[in-house]
Amino acid sequence: MRCNKLTLAVLAIVGLAAFGLAHADDPVRPQPAAVERTRETVKMLDDLYKNAVVSITKTYVEKQADTPAAAVAKEVFEAMHQKGWHHARLVDASGKPKSQRNVAKSEFEKRSVAAMKSGKTYYEEVGEKDGKPVLRAATIVPAVMPQCVVCHGGKEGGLLGAIVYEVPIK
Ligand code: HEC
Repeated sequence: MRCNKLTLAVLAIVGLAAFGLAHADDPVRPQPAAVERTRETVKMLDDLYKNAVVSITKTYVEKQADTPAAAVAKEVFEAMHQKGWHHARLVDASGKPKSQRNVAKSEFEKRSVAAMKSGKTYYEEVGEKDGKPVLRAATIVPAVMPQCVVCHGGKEGGLLGAIVYEVPIK
């Protein structure tokens, strides 16, 4: 009897300790509804950026010597980052980047490029930045119009890269 009580007490203490440890090790776990809201924000940003790039290209870009819409997109990404909104980066998935700076760097960027190459159009992970939850998401960037191919080569519709987002989950 005494022995059983002791065993129970020990088990309880071990259990509590394990519970505490598991929680201490856990990254921040945001509410599913908050993750879903952030996912919606990524979709909205993605539509906005991609429509702007296509529109700029249609209106201003014909030949290799023209300034690519990617240059404008990068400036806007940087401005949004400076304002503290989110982080977005255009990365290469073609293996022939126009700029070395666009090669996938972080582990998430590398996993995203691998996902796009395997045929996915979207890839995401919930992560943590400075102790706060973030949604990391990547969306496919194909050669959506003939001008893309003029500069990048390959064929229309072919995979060129991904936009990789890091958006705070609030
Ligand atoms: C006028 C030539 C030109 C056109 C047209 C063009 N691009 Fe680019 N693209 C570039 C250049 C130059 C860069 C590198 C810009 C930088 O990082 O400074 C680039 C970068 C990129 C990147 C990042 C990977 C890399 O190659 O460095 C992607 C993805 C991309 N463009 C997709 C597209 C898509 C999609 C279109 C069509 C809507 C398009 N581009 C049209 C010249 C072009």
